[in-house]
Amino acid sequence: MNPFQAPTGTRDVLDPESARFSLLIERFSKRVQQAGYGLVISPMFEDPGVFNRSIGEDSEVVTKEMYEFEDKSGRRLALRPEGTASVVRAFVQHRPQIPWKAWYATPAFRYERPQAGRYRQHHQVGVEALGSDDPDLDVETIALLDGYLRDVGLRSLDLRINSMGDANCRPGYESVLAGFLETNADALCKEHQESWRKNPLRVLDCKRSECVDLRVMAPRFRDSLCDACTTHFDRVLLGLDALGIVYERDDFLVRGFDYYTRTTFEVASSVLDSAQNAVGGGGRYDGLTELLGGPATPGIGFASGIERVLLAGEAEGLFDGQESLIVVFVVDLTGGEQARDLTHLMREAGIASDRAFDDRSLKAQLRQADRSGATIALIVGADEVERDVITIKVLRGARAHHQEQTPREALIGRVKELLS
Ligand code: HAM
Repeated sequence: MNPFQAPTGTRDVLDPESARFSLLIERFSKRVQQAGYGLVISPMFEDPGVFNRSIGEDSEVVTKEMYEFEDKSGRRLALRPEGTASVVRAFVQHRPQIPWKAWYATPAFRYERPQAGRYRQHHQVGVEALGSDDPDLDVETIALLDGYLRDVGLRSLDLRINSMGDANCRPGYESVLAGFLETNADALCKEHQESWRKNPLRVLDCKRSECVDLRVMAPRFRDSLCDACTTHFDRVLLGLDALGIVYERDDFLVRGFDYYTRTTFEVASSVLDSAQNAVGGGGRYDGLTELLGGPATPGIGFASGIERVLLAGEAEGLFDGQESLIVVFVVDLTGGEQARDLTHLMREAGIASDRAFDDRSLKAQLRQADRSGATIALIVGADEVERDVITIKVLRGARAHHQEQTPREALIGRVKELLS
């Protein structure tokens, strides 16, 4: 066995999966940049306080999953378990003009029990929009997530949405919920029988069957929302209807972070295992900037897991027969100089090309050409060099098996013609 493996819960992403991985980021950036979002890049590690304060001191992510360490000067740091807290910290530090609309693509680190679709290092693309509490901004962000997942080609998706109220009405709901949990504490899962008092909302997020069963009878957020939150949420739902975005209201969608206020949403893929089927989620966090020392500034955002989207895409058969980037493969039977010069010529002309190394046999080079996915092989032997021509062999597509010789000076034009 090799002495070193990727650490438990992490993965190496190699081609062709990595090509799909970067394609997702490309699709995402295109979609959000055309809606006015600019890229933000912030450090992968922060003062742990950034996450403790935002996500919640007693949240599962902070207490059980955060990677914390001391650097060589004894400073405590934490690897980011998600993107929102760092982006909001950067907003508070730099105070860009509002509305500030930012997007990111980042690894996130959580010490979770690894399984398919759940990793200790996963990757997210996401957006954060700060500076407006307009419900149409909620609609905009949800539409971006929905649009991105459709751009990727996913079809089996369910969007759930809820309003968790605000500082005004949330405490009222929490006390009604606490009353309900007090009466029904015996029916809760083992962990929550002890801990529900610390934060009753966490029970709504619990995946264990006892809590899930009891939840059906629990009081609902919608019956405790204040007028302002109800008006806000009605306008969000109206906007989604207007854009033709299908959703389901889920009165118990709370998500695992303390920073959420009002709108929360999550998209699940029905082709994934239910324990790890969320392909994206987010919500409003109108009090978060203040928690991180900034002026009161409303905000909303979401993130989508790249690995989950890839898994869902595979399950939906989206990546079958995906084309290779390489279109020309140079087969050189004269020792390698021709391949060196012709691949350079092709690449300078904007034609993706590759070659074999180490002066391999014709058969081995043709096998490699086929594996590369190239449409065309350029073959050069002693005869071609002498007559200053190149043999072009079409490997796949409508003209497959076509073969001809072309003068070297006409090569680029002819290759482009055959590829068109
Ligand atoms: P989150 O729901 O924790 O939200 O993560 C976002 C997405 O990352 C999930 O929907 C899922 O696709 C993926 N994901 C999460 N954990 C893992 C894991 N262990 N392995 C693989 N994929 C995973 C957030 O992180 C919030 N910051 C989203 C947000 C942005 N809210 C407001 N703005």
